[in-house]
Amino acid sequence: MKRTNLTNLAMAGILAVSINLTMAEDAGQKGLERGVHKSVFGKTSDGAVVDEYTLVNSSGAVAKIITYGGIVRELHVPDAEGNLGDVVLGFDSLEKYLAGHPYFGAIVGRYANRIAKGEFTLDGEKYELATNDGPNHLHGGIKGFDKVVWDAAPVESDAGPALKLSYLSKDGEEGYPGNLEVTVVYTLTDDNALRIEYEAETDKATPVNLTNHSYFNLDGEGAILDHIIMLAADFYTPVDATLIPTGEIVSVKGTIMDFTEPKAIGSRIEQLDNEPQGYDHNYVLRGGGGELAPAARVEGPDSGRVMEVYTTEPGIQFYTGNFLDGALEGKGGTVYEQYAAFCLETDHFPDSVHVPHFPSVILRPGEVYTQTTEYRFSTAK
Ligand code: GLA
Repeated sequence: MKRTNLTNLAMAGILAVSINLTMAEDAGQKGLERGVHKSVFGKTSDGAVVDEYTLVNSSGAVAKIITYGGIVRELHVPDAEGNLGDVVLGFDSLEKYLAGHPYFGAIVGRYANRIAKGEFTLDGEKYELATNDGPNHLHGGIKGFDKVVWDAAPVESDAGPALKLSYLSKDGEEGYPGNLEVTVVYTLTDDNALRIEYEAETDKATPVNLTNHSYFNLDGEGAILDHIIMLAADFYTPVDATLIPTGEIVSVKGTIMDFTEPKAIGSRIEQLDNEPQGYDHNYVLRGGGGELAPAARVEGPDSGRVMEVYTTEPGIQFYTGNFLDGALEGKGGTVYEQYAAFCLETDHFPDSVHVPHFPSVILRPGEVYTQTTEYRFSTAK
């Protein structure tokens, strides 16, 4: 009797595996059912275990998220012919992430983007942060939210498999004031959106600006210069040579910054006069922040994959992988050359702590910081 039950169970297992094989058949995705699956990804140098959570939705799309940096390590979505393919840059091993990288897939905080000279004054008190980007503070400092190990637990959601990450950023960490409790929920919705919901609370006033730094290539490889992009932004914030906003809010109309109509990313990139050349600018979103509103639409010409970005944030940093230079070897041995991917970091404007007319980035005790961004995937007909 016992034996028969076991045999039946084993048979059922084999059946389940073969059904799932057709659901998610690109490399490494075999045999996973809808839901959240956990495995060990590696250990940091001080012995902390880093887990990887694999989210599989009902259409077979897959997101792999590691607890180190809350990094989206793989994201497999269908092309126009229904073939799944990985659309984000990243590495095969934890060692490569630990060795240093330009924020591939990571949660960025406590303050995404730059703070001029790494200092600010809040409520009459002066705070000093690390200057880790020339004269400025970038992406939370030397050990930002991209380099810490987050607590993780799957959460129930009708929308799709979901993972909740939590981290307590202690008072004084990287120079910032206040204990900041942060949660980030990643949901891979059954209709192929990666939804990211951030929340934070503090016990002392502090700047907060969180984002995700995924590098996308909708065709999976090659340069993204022929991807077609539209940004729902009529204005942008010009920067100085160190990428700090001048404080101006300038119309894009008729300039090489204008993506209000769909255009190839590379159509005018050679006219930019920055070094290394490329887009690395904050656009002022038409939605204005607060409500979930359209921010961008990008199409990969070879795959037909389309990504639409919706966000509650007022800004989006459009970055074209200008600093990639072929030095990093990513997943499957792919060498990441300049323009191998683009980033659409939804957040508040850079250096807002110094520009009173930019939307405020200050969180006070009793308030709840929230931000929601959705990367919605579909295909062009
Ligand atoms: C952001 C910045 C860029 C660069 C990348 C990481 O997008 O705006 O200047 O620092 O992160 O390399």
